[in-house]
Amino acid sequence: MKMIMATFFRFVLLASFLIAFSFTGFALTTLLPHDEVKALQDIATTLGKKDWDFNIDPCSRQHPWFLANPQNGYENAVTCNCTFANSTVCHVVSIILKRQSLPGTLSPEFVRLPYIQEIALVRNYLNGTIPREWGLMNYLDSISLLGNRISGSIPKELANITTLKILSIEYNQLSGNLPLELGNLPRLEKMFLSSNNFTGEIPTTFERLTTLKDFRIADNRFSGKIPDFIHNWTNLNKLVIQASGLSGPIPSGISFLVKVTDLRISDLNGPDMAFPPLNNMTNLKILVLRSCNIIGPLPDYLSTKTTLKTLDISFNKLSEGIPSSFSSLKEVDHLYLMGNKLTGPVPDWILQDADNVGTVSCLRSFHCHKTWYSVRINCGGKDVTVNGSKTFDGDTDSAGPAKFIQSSTNWAFSSTGHYIDDGRPSDSYIWTNSSRLSITNSELFMNARISPISLTYYGFCLGNGNYTVNLHFAEIMFTDDKTYSSLGRRVFDIYVQGKRELEDFNIAYEARGVGKAVVKKFTAVVTNNTLEIRLYWGGKGTMDIPDKGVYGPLISAISVDPDFIPPSEGGKSISTSAVVSIVAAGAFVVILLMVTLWWRGCLGRKSSLERELKGLDLQTGSFTLRQIKAATNNFDVANKIGEGGFGPVYKGFFSDGTIIAVKQLSAKSKQGNREFINEIGMISALQHPHLVKLYGCCVEGDQLLLVYEYMQNNSLARVLFGPEESQLKLDWLSRHKICVGIARGLAYLHEESRLKIVHRDIKAANVLLDEDLNPKISDFGLAKLYEEDNTHISTRIAGTYGYMVPEYAMHGYLTEKADVYSFGIVALEIVSGRSNTTHCSQEESFYLLDWARLLKEKGSVLELVDPMLVSDFNKEQVMVMINVALLCANVSQAVRPTMSSVVRMLEGNSFVQDVILDTSEVMDERKLEVMRKCYLQKEEIDEDENETQKLTRNGSWTSSSSAVDLYPINLDSD
Ligand SMILES: *[C@@H]1O[C@H](CO)[C@@H](O)[C@H](O)[C@H]1NC(C)=O
Ligand SMILES: *[C@@H]1O[C@H](CO)[C@@H](O)[C@H](O)[C@H]1NC(C)=O
Ligand SMILES: *[C@@H]1O[C@H](CO)[C@@H](O)[C@H](O)[C@H]1NC(C)=O
Repeated sequence: MKMIMATFFRFVLLASFLIAFSFTGFALTTLLPHDEVKALQDIATTLGKKDWDFNIDPCSRQHPWFLANPQNGYENAVTCNCTFANSTVCHVVSIILKRQSLPGTLSPEFVRLPYIQEIALVRNYLNGTIPREWGLMNYLDSISLLGNRISGSIPKELANITTLKILSIEYNQLSGNLPLELGNLPRLEKMFLSSNNFTGEIPTTFERLTTLKDFRIADNRFSGKIPDFIHNWTNLNKLVIQASGLSGPIPSGISFLVKVTDLRISDLNGPDMAFPPLNNMTNLKILVLRSCNIIGPLPDYLSTKTTLKTLDISFNKLSEGIPSSFSSLKEVDHLYLMGNKLTGPVPDWILQDADNVGTVSCLRSFHCHKTWYSVRINCGGKDVTVNGSKTFDGDTDSAGPAKFIQSSTNWAFSSTGHYIDDGRPSDSYIWTNSSRLSITNSELFMNARISPISLTYYGFCLGNGNYTVNLHFAEIMFTDDKTYSSLGRRVFDIYVQGKRELEDFNIAYEARGVGKAVVKKFTAVVTNNTLEIRLYWGGKGTMDIPDKGVYGPLISAISVDPDFIPPSEGGKSISTSAVVSIVAAGAFVVILLMVTLWWRGCLGRKSSLERELKGLDLQTGSFTLRQIKAATNNFDVANKIGEGGFGPVYKGFFSDGTIIAVKQLSAKSKQGNREFINEIGMISALQHPHLVKLYGCCVEGDQLLLVYEYMQNNSLARVLFGPEESQLKLDWLSRHKICVGIARGLAYLHEESRLKIVHRDIKAANVLLDEDLNPKISDFGLAKLYEEDNTHISTRIAGTYGYMVPEYAMHGYLTEKADVYSFGIVALEIVSGRSNTTHCSQEESFYLLDWARLLKEKGSVLELVDPMLVSDFNKEQVMVMINVALLCANVSQAVRPTMSSVVRMLEGNSFVQDVILDTSEVMDERKLEVMRKCYLQKEEIDEDENETQKLTRNGSWTSSSSAVDLYPINLDSD
């Protein structure tokens, strides 16, 4: 982009030069006095501005000096006022040079432009000090130096510029005390001093600055208290005192600042204080009082602040409950209450929004399938695999202002906050480095998770003991060149197990540069199976470099390893009481402490989604959120029947007695809303006896709900490999019927439907069974919606481990032959009653497919048949099914039959082609023996199943078979 700009610029320059040359020769004709031309030349030299062409009249509007690009904020403008002396004389009135990374210093020569009113040198790379000569300028009303390297202190001479209205010197390296004289500026409206190194108290002379409208002093090292005299600043609209160094309490005189719309005070030292009296600020839109040591109850008057868009009163010591009057705050977009001591139930008006219910309920507890001894997360990035085995879990959920995201293994994270000032249409909580990184393990650092306030990672189901926690960081949002982008400073705090281990941690400083890795090592004592790593933004560092909204914690990866030798796996390490509460106290208190209550979804998302929906004629029934809430008893956790990659599933009852299953989609499709809804409309058009019927959907607010027919007998996975009481002792006839049904459903999807859909995740857990054991395929069409989205979803695309086709690993794309392959695996599972992958001992994993291939080679495929069937089966049909399965699961795509021919073969209407086995594998006797042992080792496997059984009784189900299925959430309060 920059390159193009520069080239374009050069082109314009050249063109103008040619024009100037042809009309004027080299003689510059301008109404600008020679002194000012000379001054401009000197200024250009001092600033390091090399591309000004002084052969052209600087006051010409057509001049290339007059360029702006609103897209990237680049500005290049010299403006003149040419009305002097009957329009015969011009004077320079403003110089605006933004985002140019000018390398020079501030020029005292500006004084030689006697009529100058505005100097804006924003986002450059200027160093040196502010010239005291500037105090001699008589008309200056605005100085803006945001984002440079200016050092030294503010010269007191600036106080002589009586015309000055704006003094913006944020994001520099200025230091020292503020000169008392500045209090004399009679017209000052905006004073921006944030992100410097100022010290001392705010001078008492500042009480005279009654014309102030906007005062910002975040991220400095001031001392003393917030001055009482601010009550004089009655014209104030905005006040920002975040991590300024000043201490509390907030003076009660703040109540006089009735015009304030944006008040942000955070990270105050000092004594506890009551909630400040802000009753008379009737126009507040943003109120941030984070980490200010505020005690006592929430004041009732807050409920009258209906103009509020953001209310952040997190990390204080607020106590008691949420007053019922607060329901008037429903329209607030973001409300942050976490990190307080609030008690009592979460009010109904909060729970009415299913978004919040989701967030609230999932905080309860996790069931542990097993005990883990490590946590590995590639924060913000994809799974990292080394030599085929996963070394870091992917963490690609796009998150949001208040999200609690649970991984499919043993960790979760909660992210709170939104970027208040960034102009971006939607916040991003993952940052991707755009250039190459020359770091070892660079895949860990290419993406990072970022957060505007607080980011907490939890490891759970961990064996108790001491662990080494390695947090991997690399700064990837700044640059290491000589541009303004290199001037960002990121500062945050790191807590491990609730203890602040590092204050004011600065990645680039610790790593000695940008794009370099630094690993911080901590020791954590895990006593309740849970590890908590919290990153908190304490209001420090730059917030506007290179762009607005670049600040707060950033983390690239986490690795946690035990300081002890874990008990060997498969042993008795699985704790039967391993229900780990992420948070250890009573449920409701916990919820309020932890959850950021978040209304109305992402800003703007609701309206756009609804707007788009209105323009669409869905081919499906449409339900209202109210109907669905009524049917599911407001998404009562007791009605939750499953948790899949696309979101939780609830059982519901319509008043006419219809039973439904409601799938709550995580609304994170990469596609636009319109395509998304279109797609759902198309899926609902797919109707077949062997596809789960989509009754319709509900799109309201941020909610995307799919309403399906309810299937009495749950999933094939549960029936085959679930806990004993859910196994249905399927006889051969049923098995055959199920197998044929699945094949028919797939044949419809692949060959008969208008859409030609590749399911991409055929597995026993995605085959549901109705009352009469008719199989119906679920989740068809969804994989497409979530193309290349978050972790859970990408497993959809890649399929589930064990059912995944070999060619996916090789070519990364899937055809319908991928489904044929997966179908083959499912068919083998149906015959054998065994899950495709089972760990049967420490060293050995049992792969059903390998086993079947071995038996096929040996000519004894009947060994594969589920012992439960004893000899009660049609031998011929069994042979056909196994042969078809092996054909389907052939390594070569070309060998795999189409689903319609599979149907014909299974039904005996066509011969099964001879299976060509891939003989690249050496089928030695030893391997065969290990497998057979594995296969017969029922006891050990049954123990695992018992673990599943318990989970299932507690009201949630999952397929115990699949390696990547989500952990079930225990939804009973226990
Ligand atoms: C130009 O200067 C004259 C004289 O000082 C002033 O009256 C006029 O408002 C100025 N024009 C602009 C556009 O600033
Ligand atoms: C601020 O000043 C202190 C001492 O005066 C110095 O140690 C520190 O590095 C400075 N900070 C910045 C960000 O320049
Ligand atoms: C708020 O305004 C009312 C009416 O103007 C005034 O009586 C009251 O004292 C003010 N309250 C505070 C806390 O300043």
